[in-house]
Amino acid sequence: MGLFIDSSDPKEIKDLYAWGVLSGVTTNPLIIAREQPSADLSEVIHEILAVSTGDVSVELTTETEAEMIKEALGYHSWDTQRIVIKVPFSETGLRVLHQLTKRQIKTNVTCLMAMNQAYLAALGGATYVSLFSGRVQDMGYDVRPVISSTRAVLDREGLQSKIIVGSMRHLMDVNEALEAGCHVPTVTPPILRKMVWNPRTIETIAEFNDAWRKRPTKR
Ligand code: E4P
Repeated sequence: MGLFIDSSDPKEIKDLYAWGVLSGVTTNPLIIAREQPSADLSEVIHEILAVSTGDVSVELTTETEAEMIKEALGYHSWDTQRIVIKVPFSETGLRVLHQLTKRQIKTNVTCLMAMNQAYLAALGGATYVSLFSGRVQDMGYDVRPVISSTRAVLDREGLQSKIIVGSMRHLMDVNEALEAGCHVPTVTPPILRKMVWNPRTIETIAEFNDAWRKRPTKR
């Protein structure tokens, strides 16, 4: 049901949206700290909103329920239709999710490593549940059964949350996530570019164009 870009770089996002294949943006504090170390968060997110379409996830960075709700309402006010509040998963995160769900604010429950966590987030009304492929694999586990069992449980229980798979480190991670039942992969710009690249495609196009240039022309 879509492909998101995992980036906070408005220039890169604008460039890649021109391909016509992206339908949303995910950011997180680590990506923003890395890509926009001294930028103002509100400015960065407003720039991202201006160059993209669809949902833009912004993650909460505070840690108490009251602070998180206040932070979430601030982000929500930037664009009530398109901002999705990324809620780090925990007991407090579930309480915050419940409050935001009651206010009909879109949410993306993040940092999920297991089906049971995603199931709780989906029961809590999350718009998206984000499974972290690379980080699950870092612990030595196969992420495919995590994704496929999450999809099976959500479908069987009639839960509406969509599964985002992020933390993609390789092109193969994207392919495997899609095959396992992920609704929306979120990929970094380098991985998106790898999805286009294939040496045999490049070689074939060059062969066709070369033959066209060298065709005998009538005088
Ligand atoms: C997804 O929404 C996250 O922003 C992201 O994919 C996390 O990836 P990481 O494991 O590379 O930090």
